[in-house]
Amino acid sequence: MAHPLLRLSSIEKGYRRGTSQETLVLGGVSLEIGAGEITVIKGPSGSGKTTLLSIAGCMLRPDAGRVLLDGEDVTGLPEQLQAIIRRTRFGFIFQHLNLIPDLPVLDNVVLPLLPSPIGRRELHDRAVELLEWLGLQGKEGLKVRDLSGGEGQRVAIARALINDPDIVVADEPTAHLDPDRSTWLVNMLLELASKGKAVLIATHDPIVFLEKRVGRVFHLSDGSLHMEVEGGGP
Ligand SMILES: Nc1ncnc2c1ncn2[C@@H]1O[C@H](COP(=O)(O)OP(=O)(O)OP(=O)(O)O)[C@@H](O)[C@H]1O
Ligand SMILES: [Mg+2]
Repeated sequence: MAHPLLRLSSIEKGYRRGTSQETLVLGGVSLEIGAGEITVIKGPSGSGKTTLLSIAGCMLRPDAGRVLLDGEDVTGLPEQLQAIIRRTRFGFIFQHLNLIPDLPVLDNVVLPLLPSPIGRRELHDRAVELLEWLGLQGKEGLKVRDLSGGEGQRVAIARALINDPDIVVADEPTAHLDPDRSTWLVNMLLELASKGKAVLIATHDPIVFLEKRVGRVFHLSDGSLHMEVEGGGP
């Protein structure tokens, strides 16, 4: 990859539990993510997939190693600058969705953009358009707590895309979906990649990692990442 959009270089991360010794979750992981590509990270529960995605998305700092965005080292930037990068460059679909149950669907979707220089009307129109694309037309005013799990997942996807990010980070995006919806979601992620977005996915789900068009598949275990499939991308 000549100029990867995002590059992780020799990332190390450990967690300390109580007084016990620190356990190393990532032991020097390197990964390059390019525009228009889907990169899948699979691996057993607890292997560090969420940790890796959090570091890639500038949400968590590594103990060692560097994160480069457009070739620029962003690892040590102050929190306010990292927050701007997250807001402008990344869209996150979280493992536990992180929606606000008592807020309506539409408010949950526009939340990452607030406060915003974009007018209310335009924000509203953008959110409605995304929700329609995701098959949630007519649900804009419902509280998220009144939706099904799969509908909630789609609200989380709309929220991840509202800022038109370059990089979509999706942690177990099919966890709340039935097989048909999971296939639909994989196609949706392929469509995003074909529009030039870099898509980074952590998943256990064979519907995602066995899909021939998803591009590169890596397996994370014992702190290291191994390439399993070197795909050509969508
Ligand atoms: N904030 C934290 N403090 C202490 N330990 C943590 C913390 N976050 C994660 N861990 C530990 O680090 C390891 C990796 O966690 P992580 O959530 O990255 O795994 P994962 O591969 O995403 O797992 P899953 O497939 O279950 O989502 C686990 O053993 C977890 O308990
Ligand atoms: Mg996880």
